[in-house]
Amino acid sequence: MRQSFLVFGAPEIQGDEIREVVASMESGWLGTGPKVARFEEDFRSYKGASHAVALNSCTAALHLSLIAAGVGPGDEVITSALTFCATANAIIHAGAVPVIVDVDPVTMNLDPGLVAERISHRTKALLPVHFAGRCCDMDRLMALAEAHDLLVIEDCAHSIETEYKGRKAGTFGDFGCFSFYVTKNVAAGEGGMVLARREGDAARIKVLALHGMTKDAWRRYSDAGYRHYQVVEAGFKYNMMDLQAAIGIHQLHRVEKNWLRREVFWRRYNEAFKDLPITLPSDPEPDTRHAYHLYTVLIDEDRTGLTRDAFLQAMTELNIGVGVHYLCLAEYAFYRERFKWQPEDYPHATRIGRQTVSLPLSPKLTDRDVEDVIETVGEVIAE
Ligand SMILES: Cc1ncc(COP(=O)(O)O)c(C=O)c1O
Repeated sequence: MRQSFLVFGAPEIQGDEIREVVASMESGWLGTGPKVARFEEDFRSYKGASHAVALNSCTAALHLSLIAAGVGPGDEVITSALTFCATANAIIHAGAVPVIVDVDPVTMNLDPGLVAERISHRTKALLPVHFAGRCCDMDRLMALAEAHDLLVIEDCAHSIETEYKGRKAGTFGDFGCFSFYVTKNVAAGEGGMVLARREGDAARIKVLALHGMTKDAWRRYSDAGYRHYQVVEAGFKYNMMDLQAAIGIHQLHRVEKNWLRREVFWRRYNEAFKDLPITLPSDPEPDTRHAYHLYTVLIDEDRTGLTRDAFLQAMTELNIGVGVHYLCLAEYAFYRERFKWQPEDYPHATRIGRQTVSLPLSPKLTDRDVEDVIETVGEVIAE
C-alpha cells in the first residue's frame, strides 16, 4: 500500500508562478490590473478567439454570458443532465429555467437528438458541456441552434485544450466559459474566462463583472489622475485579481506540455486496465482533440461485485484520492423539488452518475504515482 495519500487533482505549481505572485505582492497591486490584462490576451491568443474577459470563476462566466445573451425570466436553456451543479445554477440565477437532457452513453456528452426533442418556443439558448474534455457534437448542435435561432454558450470548464475538426472549444458558440479552479488544466486556485464572439458582449461582461461601473480600479487610480465612473446597470463582483492571473499566466504557458504528460498517463491507464471488468473512457472521436481533463471509469456492481461507493472507499483507504464527476442533476433534492426532475427520465446520466469514478490525472503525478493508482485499482477490483 502507498505510504502517503495521493490527493486527487492536486495542481502542479512551479517556481515561475511563485515568483510572479511574489512580484505582484511586492508591487502592491493585488487586484485587477496589468496581469489580468496580460492573461486575457494570452488566453485569447491561445484559443484564437475574438475577445476574452477574465473573471473570478467559470460560474461567473456562465452567469454573465447568459445575461449578455439576453437570457432571463420566461426563457429556457437546454443543458446536460451530467454536469456540475454550477451549470444549472447559473441558468437559474439568470432568471431562466434549465431544461436538462440525457447524455450519449458512450461520449457522456449531450445527445443532440434529445436536444432537438426538447426545443420549444421558450428555448433561448443551448448550453453544451464538453464533458471531461471531450468535445460535444458541435456540427449537430450548431445546426440546431441555427435552425431555431438559439444562442450557444459553451461550458468549457473541462476543455481548455479541446478541439473539434480543427476548431477550438469555446469558439463555436456566442460565448465560451472556462474555469481555472484548482483541479483544472490551467489552475489559478479560483478563476474563470469568457470568450465572446462580439466586442459589445465582451464590453458588457466587463462592466457587469465590476458592479456595472464604467471604469475599473486600474484606470480609476492610475497616474493619469482620478477618473469618475458611472454606474450603468446593477452588476456583480466577479473580477479576477492580478494574484490569480499571476498564477494563470504561467500555468497557461505550460498547458501543452502538461497535456502531453496527461496523454501518457491516459494511455498507460487504458493499457493497464484493459482486461479488468470495468468500463474505460471511449477513445476520442476522429478529428477531435480531447483535453484529458478527467479519466473516468465505470464500476458496475454486476461485473465487479463491488458498488461504486465501496470502490471509492477502498481506494481512499489505500491512500489514492478519487473523485465523482458527476451524479445526474436529477439526483439532487433541490432540482427534483423545483423542476420535478426524476433520475429515471435520464437513464444514461443516472447510470453513469451512479457508477463513475475519476482517477488521478494531474500533471503533478510522478510515474510511480500512476503505477500506485494502477496497482491499487487492480487490488480493489480483484478482492
Ligand atoms: C462542468 C463545469 N462547469 C462549471 C464549473 C464551475 O467552475 P468554477 O468553479 O470555476 O466556477 C465547473 C467546476 O468544477 C465544472 O466542472
